[in-house]
Formats: sequence, C-alpha cells, structure tokens
Amino acid sequence: MRALITGGAGFIGSHLAESLAADGHEVWVLDDLSTGQRKNLCGLEHQPGFRFIEGSVLDEATVTDCLSSVDVVYHLAAVVGVRLVVESPVRTLETNLKGTENVLRACYERKLPVLLASTSEVYGRHLENRPLSEEDDRIYGPPTVGRWSYAASKAVDEFLGLAYHRERGLPVVIARFFNTVGPRQTGRYGMVLPSFVRAALQGKPLEIHGDGSQSRSFTWVGDCVRATRSLMQTPEAVGEVVNIGHGSEVTIAELARRVVAKTGSSSKVVHVTHESVYGPGFEDMQFRTPSIAKLQRLTGYAPSYDLDQILDEVIAYERAQESAPASAAAWVESTQPTLT
Ligand SMILES: NC(=O)c1ccc[n+]([C@@H]2O[C@H](COP(=O)([O-])OP(=O)(O)OC[C@H]3O[C@@H](n4cnc5c(N)ncnc54)[C@H](O)[C@@H]3O)[C@@H](O)[C@H]2O)c1
Repeated sequence: MRALITGGAGFIGSHLAESLAADGHEVWVLDDLSTGQRKNLCGLEHQPGFRFIEGSVLDEATVTDCLSSVDVVYHLAAVVGVRLVVESPVRTLETNLKGTENVLRACYERKLPVLLASTSEVYGRHLENRPLSEEDDRIYGPPTVGRWSYAASKAVDEFLGLAYHRERGLPVVIARFFNTVGPRQTGRYGMVLPSFVRAALQGKPLEIHGDGSQSRSFTWVGDCVRATRSLMQTPEAVGEVVNIGHGSEVTIAELARRVVAKTGSSSKVVHVTHESVYGPGFEDMQFRTPSIAKLQRLTGYAPSYDLDQILDEVIAYERAQESAPASAAAWVESTQPTLT
C-alpha cells in the first residue's frame, strides 16, 4: 500500500509515517512545513518509496497530483494549537475548511479511503457529559471567542466527510483525537505537556492557566497511531466518528506537580489568567475525557501507556533535546518499537 499523509511532517503525522513505513508501506507526505518540520521525517528519508512533497492542501492541483497514485489517505494537515488558532483565525478556517474540502473532493475522484483527523474540541462547551461519547450534543461559545473557530471548522469537516460517505459512497473514517502527547510535540502553540516539561528542565516557572482544577486526558502518540491505523483496517469504522484517547484524566495542577517531581526541578508553579494569555473572553473547558468504548468495540484497542510512562518518555526526549538536539533524533529512532 502507498499511503499519503497530509500534515505528515507534524507531530502525530510523522509518527504515523514511521509506523506505516516500518510495516513495509510506502509513505508520501504532503506538508507546507508551517508547524511541521522536515527533521521529523529524517528517519524516513532513505526508506524505499518515501516521498516528501512540500506544498499546501489549499492548492487543489497539488492535492490532486499527490492523490493520483496512492491507495489510502490520512488527512492530518490543519492549523493546530490554541495559541495559533486564536492568533490566526483566517488561516485556521481556510486551512481546516478548504483544505479538507480539497482532500475529500480529490479522494472522491479516485474513490480513495480517507481518514480525517478531528478533535475533542468539537465537543465544545459541554457542561455535564463525562466521559464524552461520539453521539453527545455540542454547544459552542460565541463567534467573538476565537478558540471556537477551530472546533467549528473541524465540526464542519466531520459533516463534510460524512456527507461524502452517505451521499457519494466514499469510504471515510473520522477520528476524534484527544490530547495526544509524545516526542516532537512542540509547546510553541499552547500545548500544555511539552510547555511544562521544558519549563521544568530549564528551571522556569510552570504557568497554569486558571486555577488548575480543569482536567485533561493524555494519550501516548504511539497508542494514537495504533488506533488510527486499526480504524483504517476496520470496515465497520467506515462512515463512523470515533474517539481516540485514554479513558483516565488528571487535573492540570496535578500534572504540573508530577512534572516538577519527576524532573527534580526547582521550578515554581504559577497561575495566570486565561485572558492574560489568550485575550478577553477566552473560555477553557473544565474537563475533556473521552469514552473509548466505541474504539474498543470496533478495534479491540486498549491504551498501552499510562500518564507516568508518558511523562517519563516525554521528559527523556526533552532532556535529550536540551543536551544535544541531534541525539534526540537518534533517541526517537532507538525507541521506535514503543512508538508504533
Ligand atoms: N496533538 C493533539 O493532541 C491533537 C488533538 C486533536 C486533534 N489533533 C489533530 O491531529 C492532526 C495533527 O495534529 P498535530 O498535533 O500533529 O499538529 P502539527 O501542527 O504537528 O501537525 C499539523 C501538520 O499540518 C501541516 N499543515 C498545516 N497547514 C497545512 C497546509 N495548508 N498544507 C499542508 N500541510 C499543512 C503542518 O505543517 C504540520 O506538519 C490535526 O488535524 C489536528 O487537528 C491533534
């Protein structure tokens, strides 16, 4: 099989690329390197059949061209990260809407199976449901609050994907990723775990947004990749929306405490308001925990890493980055069996 991964130079995409290549598949990556990095793919450069195409999913001709000779598509390219979304709403909406439209249209022309990467953000401002199930209702905040543009754009992507499946018979699978973490995730755009670990290793304060009582559920990137690939091998998943995550949760205050303890850091934990970071009117969700019952029923999935194991891996990776960025790449290669 030859797989095209849009956004394959990014965090999750590069791990997916390695996993597919390790099993003998040819991997093509289409990425504009806006948040992804070519070095994330350094382990694949000499892999037979590997191809990197620097380009945008917004460019219809490039998308059509890339899809002309692949067998399956994983569409991960998107504007990701709360900070980036709040700062660049036009880019967010254009990439996540038009980019997905281009990919779906080109897949339809060639009748290619496609997985769309969606997000737990689509659950919106849910107040009661816990854990979150695929059929739950959603409520979004007002359009003046920038973060909702990401959720709304991904929600429309889901509708469009399902429309292509129901009306035109395209094999579409929709995966709702919950907070996925692991090596290569950048803390630059508001991702909490890499930001905390880097701050702790550098002796800087760990900044908790709000009071820290909000909880999140973290998934090891290797588990996310395994679940993503399993869904694409499960005929019953076609036309379905499926959560990919870890069923447990931790408060952000507890996460900070564990990062400080595990790194042996002297960093302080400080609290800042959401508004001071993201501007007036910003809303945060109090919890975001997935039900993974559907994923388990469809694929037999069970997460392999708990939070302590995830923290150990991320801290080891970030330490390697601090001491010698080149050795961090080697560290990732040496841990491949746990990543796939
Ligand atoms: N990491 C998470 O916790 C998480 C959670 C929910 C959903 N997701 C989804 O998973 C996917 C991958 O996210 P990630 O965490 O790896 O983020 P990432 O930023 O590392 O990856 C996104 C990739 O898309 C590329 N990209 C952006 N715009 C593009 C364009 N116009 N054309 C081509 N490539 C473009 C970027 O350069 C980057 O390599 C995204 O669709 C995201 O919405 C991720």
